[in-house]
Amino acid sequence: MTPPVRTSRREFLRLAGGAAVFPTLAACGGPDRAPTEGVPQSPFDGNSTAAEVTEGIDLSGKLAVVTGCTSGIGFETMRVLAARGAYVVGTSRSLERARDAGRRVVGVTSALELELGDPDSVLACAAEIRSLNAPVDMLICNAGYRGGGNEPLLTNGVERHFAINHLGHFLLVNRLLERLYLSWQGRIVIVASRAAYTDRPAGGIRFDRLEAPSDYSDRAAYAESKLANVLFARELGKRLRGTRITANAVHPGLVKTAIDRNLGGGSRMGFRLLAALVGKTVGQGAATSCYVATSPLLGAVSGRYFEDCNAVTIEGDPYMENDSLAATLWDVSVGYTQDYLDKLERPDPSDIGPWHRGASQ
Ligand SMILES: NC(=O)c1ccc[n+]([C@@H]2O[C@H](COP(=O)([O-])OP(=O)(O)OC[C@H]3O[C@@H](n4cnc5c(N)ncnc54)[C@H](OP(=O)(O)O)[C@@H]3O)[C@@H](O)[C@H]2O)c1
Repeated sequence: MTPPVRTSRREFLRLAGGAAVFPTLAACGGPDRAPTEGVPQSPFDGNSTAAEVTEGIDLSGKLAVVTGCTSGIGFETMRVLAARGAYVVGTSRSLERARDAGRRVVGVTSALELELGDPDSVLACAAEIRSLNAPVDMLICNAGYRGGGNEPLLTNGVERHFAINHLGHFLLVNRLLERLYLSWQGRIVIVASRAAYTDRPAGGIRFDRLEAPSDYSDRAAYAESKLANVLFARELGKRLRGTRITANAVHPGLVKTAIDRNLGGGSRMGFRLLAALVGKTVGQGAATSCYVATSPLLGAVSGRYFEDCNAVTIEGDPYMENDSLAATLWDVSVGYTQDYLDKLERPDPSDIGPWHRGASQ
């Protein structure tokens, strides 16, 4: 039996403070997190920074793609991967903002426009990356949308958090898989959130309400999309078994970033206060993404969920490791994106040459 993950003093304060400021965050203290069996324990924890977890790792010659590189955790992820030698393609809804972010980084970067809510934009971005004719070694699906207000918004007829946070990345991953196959060890990191188990609706992902949300709350909708992030990584890990690509989901931690931009005044103030009191720095917030993207310990670890640089299992949670929900999510996601998907055949792992692309387009 593996012992539950110990809660550090700061973590305790974070949870306690969370409960005081946001009643729903009280749920954060609920389930125990146990180290996931079969995954090597990392030497890092919630205090580690992205710079620390990548220290001594040479990423020269590697190509990384970071969505949402203009602020917060994505910017820090791009900064650190570039500092370690990777060539980083950073995306934003605004090419100008992405370029500006690249200029603030030491290393080699390039900027691309990406609106995750627009499939044509996703296809154009993926086509630009494919035109580099290089393997994609790391794909960090970091960009995220957090709406505010209790009026549901739709994007392309689908609840907006689900459309942007999940479907946009689902399509991007599909369109870049052929480049990940070419990597010696392709890694997909999906930035989720622990909201996936603290704030999700009782039914998990309510597929029947995606097009006509009822009993809507922005917090639950965000959490639902983050549960989709976790289950997407799980299903992807399963489907990519036998290849050299891994896929994992991470929770970055509570970090004061611009993610609160759409929240109402009271909620935003609460978030900022809490993040200032007990949150992580952006360096700490980017650590788990960078660790999962680069650690030599994780070359064969896939389909897992990480917090504080370690794979954890949320004890008693009915959805975080629910394979049947993950399979349904996959089918529903294919349904929404089928007009845009690249049809790739799974490569034969015994093939020692470059991975062959199957029938596509
Ligand atoms: N901060 C936290 O406490 C926390 C906790 C748990 C999970 N997370 C997750 O961490 C990730 C990074 O968030 P952050 O805290 O660093 O927030 P942030 O500072 O607001 O960064 C979000 C990034 O996503 C991009 N973005 C937003 N909407 C987009 C869209 N429709 N299409 C494409 N890109 C879009 C933004 O770029 P542009 O505006 O330039 O397009 C921005 O660079 C998110 O997935 C978030 O859910 C954060």
